[in-house]
Amino acid sequence: MVPSDSPHPGDQAGDGTSGHRGEEAGTEPVPPGPPLELRPTYPVRTSRLLLRPLTEADTDALLEYRSLPEVCRYVPFVPMDRAAVAQRLAGAWARTEITAEGQGVILGMEVAETGRLVGDVNLYLHSREHRAAEVGWVLSPHHSGRGYATEAAHAILHLAFDDLKVHRVTARVDARNLASGRLAQRLGMRQEALLIENEWFKGGWSDEIDFALLESDWVSQHREPTATL
Ligand SMILES: CC(C)(COP(=O)(O)OP(=O)(O)OC[C@H]1O[C@@H](n2cnc3c(N)ncnc32)[C@H](O)[C@@H]1OP(=O)(O)O)[C@@H](O)C(=O)NCCC(=O)NCCS
Repeated sequence: MVPSDSPHPGDQAGDGTSGHRGEEAGTEPVPPGPPLELRPTYPVRTSRLLLRPLTEADTDALLEYRSLPEVCRYVPFVPMDRAAVAQRLAGAWARTEITAEGQGVILGMEVAETGRLVGDVNLYLHSREHRAAEVGWVLSPHHSGRGYATEAAHAILHLAFDDLKVHRVTARVDARNLASGRLAQRLGMRQEALLIENEWFKGGWSDEIDFALLESDWVSQHREPTATL
C-alpha cells in the first residue's frame, strides 16, 4: 500500500482506548530519544539512483507509470491524469521534510546515468509516540527487474532509521502483490501478519500482509559483512 494515500489514525476512538498503554501504566507517554525530524540533503545518492523531491518537470515521467492500471492494481490510488498529478505536486508531494507526525515525503527515483525518473518511494511518520513510520514504493514497469525499487527503498529505510530515528518501519502489501512482498523480504523486513479480507479494496475484499523492520534489526543487518545493498 502507499501510506500517504491512506488514513492511519492512531487512537481511533480518541478516548485513550487504543494505543496508549504507556499512559495507563503511568509511564512516560513518549519514549526517550532524539526528536523525530528528517531534513535530507537532496539528492540522496545510492549506487545507481538519485532520490529527490518531485517537481512539475517530472509530470510526463510520472504519468508514464502512475497512469497505468497495472501499476495501480494493488495501491490505493487510481490511474492518474495530468490534473491529478498536478494537484499532488502542488499539495502532499511538495513536502521535502518531516517535522511532525502525520507528515510524509515522496522522493523520485532518478537513474543517475540517464537522468530518467523511473519511480518513487515514500516515507510517512505515523506516530511520534511509537516512533513508527511506513514506507511505500512505485516503479515504472518499463524499469522493473533491475533492483531499482529495492535500492531506493533501502535508502529510504536508511533515512527512516539513521536520520528520522524511528523505532519501527512497516510496509503494508496486498497479499496478491507478490513482487512487492519479495521486495519487502529483500529489504530484510519481517512478515508479521496476514490480515484476511481486512479492506474493501477496489471492488472486493483484499488480504493484507504487514511487514516490519525494527531499528535493532537494521543495526544488526548493517553490522553483517553480508549486507549487500
Ligand atoms: C512492487 C514493485 C516496486 C516491484 O518492482 P521490481 O522490479 O520487482 O523491484 P526492483 O526494482 O527492486 O527489482 C527487483 C527484481 O529485479 C531483480 N534484480 C535484478 N537486478 C537486481 C539488483 N541489482 N538488485 C536487486 N534486485 C535485482 C530481483 O531479483 C527482483 O526480481 P524477482 O522479484 O523476480 O526476484 C513494482 O512491481 C511496482 O511498482 N508495482 C506497482 C506499484 C505497487 O504495487 N507498489 C507496491 C505497493 S505495496
